[in-house]
Amino acid sequence: MLRESWALWNPGSVIHVGAEAEVSSGSWIGMPAILKRRVPRSYRHPILEKKLSKQRIYAEARIISRLNENGVPSPKLLAMDPDEGWLIMSEVQGPTLLAALRRGMEGELEMALGKSLRSVHSKGISHGDLTTLNAIVSDSGVVLIDYGLGRLVAETEHFGLDLHSLHECLSAHHSDRKNAMHNVIEGYLQNPDSDAFDGKSVVDRFESIRGRVRYHA
Ligand SMILES: Nc1ncnc2c1ncn2[C@@H]1O[C@H](COP(=O)(O)OP(=O)(O)OP(=O)(O)O)[C@@H](O)[C@H]1O
Ligand SMILES: [Mg+2]
Repeated sequence: MLRESWALWNPGSVIHVGAEAEVSSGSWIGMPAILKRRVPRSYRHPILEKKLSKQRIYAEARIISRLNENGVPSPKLLAMDPDEGWLIMSEVQGPTLLAALRRGMEGELEMALGKSLRSVHSKGISHGDLTTLNAIVSDSGVVLIDYGLGRLVAETEHFGLDLHSLHECLSAHHSDRKNAMHNVIEGYLQNPDSDAFDGKSVVDRFESIRGRVRYHA
């Protein structure tokens, strides 16, 4: 690890140990920050493991940098070492969307999620793993995080798949909120003149993916 980087990082506590990553809070030159470190999976060949880990760190770093450049609210990239499989980004303050929805937090959260997803898609970026745990309800709206499976040059199919994975998550974990997906789509289709992005085609593609999945289930 770069020694200079570690001198700037002041560790706090581990906040999440997932299947692929260990996430800790702390501070970077005094600013609240998050360290995401990929955890090697022992069942994968070490060379494949290193390649995958590097790819995901790169994908996440490139995507959040692109979003930062384009003014889309997202964590800011502060430091990274793809060879060692870690990155440090700014902390987005607020509860996860999962926690906010479970608490029955008032407000048009699902519409805000749809709007945020559209802003990301309109920059040509797909998320790749969209769930209510990968979104934070902050003062500047719903901010998406965890772009390790995202794509910078995404196609309509990838955008439709983002809506589909969100739909599966909402059906599985938030089944009490009957209009959730409807609200997400409403937010997604709002302000169609504010960018050159064809949101309607993405929603149509989502419907056809949903049909395909139902047919094969
Ligand atoms: N920039 C951030 N600001 C605030 N909280 C964050 C941030 N990044 C991650 N977190 C918190 O850590 C949790 C896990 O982070 P993340 O989703 O990036 O990792 P993961 O799901 O383990 O990753 P992967 O899917 O790549 O294995 C999030 O659900 C969120 O609560
Ligand atoms: Mg995640």
